[in-house]
Amino acid sequence: MIILKSEREIQMMAEAGKLLAACHRRLAKRIRPGVTTMEINDYVDAFLKKNGAKSEQYGYNGYQYATCASINDEICHGFPRKSPLKKGDIVTIDVVVNLNGALADSAWTYAVGEVSGGARKLMETSKKALYIGIEKAVAGNRLGDIGHAIQTFVEGEGYSIVRDFTGHGIGRNIHEDPQVFHFGQPGRGIRLREGMVITIEPMVNEGTWHSKMDDDRWTARTVDGKLSAQYEHTIAITKDGPIILTEQ
Ligand code: MF3
Ligand code: CO
Repeated sequence: MIILKSEREIQMMAEAGKLLAACHRRLAKRIRPGVTTMEINDYVDAFLKKNGAKSEQYGYNGYQYATCASINDEICHGFPRKSPLKKGDIVTIDVVVNLNGALADSAWTYAVGEVSGGARKLMETSKKALYIGIEKAVAGNRLGDIGHAIQTFVEGEGYSIVRDFTGHGIGRNIHEDPQVFHFGQPGRGIRLREGMVITIEPMVNEGTWHSKMDDDRWTARTVDGKLSAQYEHTIAITKDGPIILTEQ
């Protein structure tokens, strides 16, 4: 069941999103060789608390951290760890903020120091894929229009789009209907309506799209060991078009 949001609810989610955007901008300055993803996790946790918010991930289906931190071939839902990031790594930090009961979900991939040209291009492609998807998040369009635009662009760049994880509706819960596929056919799927709030979060792989799950039952990684990158925003579908809630 899709829960449509009122203007007031969207406004509250936008407040959560603004805080999350500020958090990511701070991370961009902190992430460098030698820093651990556990330190990043604790920084996010403290930053949110200081601002009257909290991470919605903590305790979600038994998840034990405030952030997901997925390094190199890890696609998503990696655990923060105590080993230092190395120059040339890429790391996706995914945070779901709860501010006064309203949620916002956003992930960015960060370069750790200087990274290879290939890693840089992968990151740029996944960020661009997100914005190409957002352009299609217009009332009257269908979900397949978003997925198709993302898939076509990503594959055209010689990469693959992960199929085992999707975007989602979001509101008072992290994962609401609908599932937002990052691949698909134009004109297919449910019709987008004003008041829907969804995430778009394409995970783009250097190699094949296939993923495997670690024994921890959370960490998803590429089967071929190649890199994966991801950018995610929370988007409100309004009469004025898509509004990105997790960007200042
Ligand atoms: N953006 C991530 C997702 O939708 C957030 C996951 S939160 C977790 O999958 F707690 F499930 F990890
Ligand atoms: Co999400």
